[in-house]
Amino acid sequence: MVNDGVKLRPLTEDDVPAVHRLLGDMKVIRYMLFPLFDEQAARDFVRESAADSDGQRGPSLVRAIAFADSGILVGLCGLVLDRDRLQGEAWYLLDPDYWGKGLATEAGRHLLAYGFGPLGLHRMWAMCLPQNPASARVLRKLGMRREGYLRKHLRIHGVWRDCFLYAMLREEWHA
Ligand SMILES: CC(C)(COP(=O)(O)OP(=O)(O)OC[C@H]1O[C@@H](n2cnc3c(N)ncnc32)[C@H](O)[C@@H]1OP(=O)(O)O)[C@@H](O)C(=O)NCCC(=O)NCCS
Repeated sequence: MVNDGVKLRPLTEDDVPAVHRLLGDMKVIRYMLFPLFDEQAARDFVRESAADSDGQRGPSLVRAIAFADSGILVGLCGLVLDRDRLQGEAWYLLDPDYWGKGLATEAGRHLLAYGFGPLGLHRMWAMCLPQNPASARVLRKLGMRREGYLRKHLRIHGVWRDCFLYAMLREEWHA
């Protein structure tokens, strides 16, 4: 999972401070289900993600979004697989210092390629809050289709939020 800009790689123990910085920042997680992380939560998250880096034991696969040349972690993304491991929910987040440079879109392309390639998924989908137009734009740039609007679907930081549902089928990716 490499190209000139960012690559996706499994997390390592060395990523704990960067993960803490990202998931301890309300600006990053305000539209996501993640709670605000302290250092211990970041440590646990990295340990669990690294222990199941191919998502073979559990449903969740997590990747660092890292610069291809330096390996510096600038974001996180992942897939949550359904029980049959045929569909997956994609998520992503990026360090605010690097917003607006196309990196989430690039990471999203790697994630779709991994899901529809090695994982052989049939369908990938993502949720996005109406308050988060940058994320909706990323999903559209990835070629995902808006399939629906789910009313008060996710409880995010104590508030029930409406969500847009975007998805892509395997055949659409290969086309
Ligand atoms: C959403 C997020 C991942 C986008 O990352 P990014 O690297 O800046 O995304 P990209 O640069 O690839 O694309 C962003 C697009 O949104 C557009 N955009 C940014 N802010 C926008 C706004 N307020 N309204 C409309 N479009 C907006 C940008 O112009 C760009 O589109 P363009 O390439 O056509 O110009 C990043 O803002 C983030 O990490 N947010 C916090 C975590 C999060 O919300 N994750 C998604 C959960 S659903």
